[in-house]
Amino acid sequence: MPRRSRVSATGGETPAGRPLRLVRRRARPAPPAVAAAADHPARWARPHVRTLAFASGKGGVGKSNLAANLAVALGELGARVLLLDADLAQANLDLLLGLNPRYDLQHVFSQEKLLEEIVVEGPRGVSLVPAASGVPALADLDDYRLECLLRGLGQLEADVDLILIDVASGTSRPVLSFCLAADEVVMVTTPEMPAFSDAYAMIKLLKQRGLTRPPHLVVNAAASPEEAEEVTHRLRLVARRFLQLEPESWGYVPFDAAVPSAVRRQEPVVTAFPRSPAAQAYRALAARLWGAPAGPESTSHPLVEKLEA
Ligand SMILES: Nc1ncnc2c1ncn2[C@@H]1O[C@H](COP(=O)(O)OP(=O)(O)O)[C@@H](O)[C@H]1O
Ligand SMILES: [Mg+2]
Repeated sequence: MPRRSRVSATGGETPAGRPLRLVRRRARPAPPAVAAAADHPARWARPHVRTLAFASGKGGVGKSNLAANLAVALGELGARVLLLDADLAQANLDLLLGLNPRYDLQHVFSQEKLLEEIVVEGPRGVSLVPAASGVPALADLDDYRLECLLRGLGQLEADVDLILIDVASGTSRPVLSFCLAADEVVMVTTPEMPAFSDAYAMIKLLKQRGLTRPPHLVVNAAASPEEAEEVTHRLRLVARRFLQLEPESWGYVPFDAAVPSAVRRQEPVVTAFPRSPAAQAYRALAARLWGAPAGPESTSHPLVEKLEA
């Protein structure tokens, strides 16, 4: 991926010794509320790319496989996708994509590398921002580093059409921040009750923290279309009734042994077993996403502005 700007995601100095300088670029006039605080660093706008956060209340529901395979399927369709591994405690997108990155976010936070220098290219041209696994300090990403990371991402945006963020499971502060900073949240659940109830709890918490746009729902590892439909129906019902939100169904991925087989081969299932039911479902989701227009909010609030809103 060609790089042009030399901006450290840590907010520190570039190797050339120049301090971090963010270019003020605004594509459209600021709305009044924004204009009132035009000098605030949060208002350093930049070109904006549709950004989706993949979240789940419970772990192990297939979120990382969804993000990785969707990215590759989108790559097949010609989309330029940047995949951010934001599960900082249990990062695994590099393994799922068969990559062996030398550097990761740890090196960015320690100011050894620039964000653009750790990006690696995966299957179908997918760009990955890898994270290190098992570094507890990274999991407690403070607001400053989180903001610098998002700001650094903004500098990479010019080269991509979509940014997919694989966040950690649960409701830690960085997880909520990533979800609220993204344009759209894709809530992943399996048909199992604990996953379902945790997904609902997470949507509720996000709503309390200011989420205005309803999340999209993906049911993973469904035994049948009917089962997926039933789960979606129930989740939509409770979200509408108790949270006044209307989450949109983005479909489902069937339970498919090809997924763990591909994981063992360290390959995305869409390339390892392209004809498997799961691969077809990931592709259908990619087609839906790539064909769907970005929502009204996604062009009006750049990532960092929303983080600080
Ligand atoms: N559709 C599926 N069918 C069968 N197994 C799946 C499916 N999706 C995910 N898995 C398996 O579930 C496990 C957890 O998936 P992962 O994507 O790592 O979840 P998360 O990121 O939510 O923790 C993996 O071992 C993976 O092989
Ligand atoms: Mg994961």
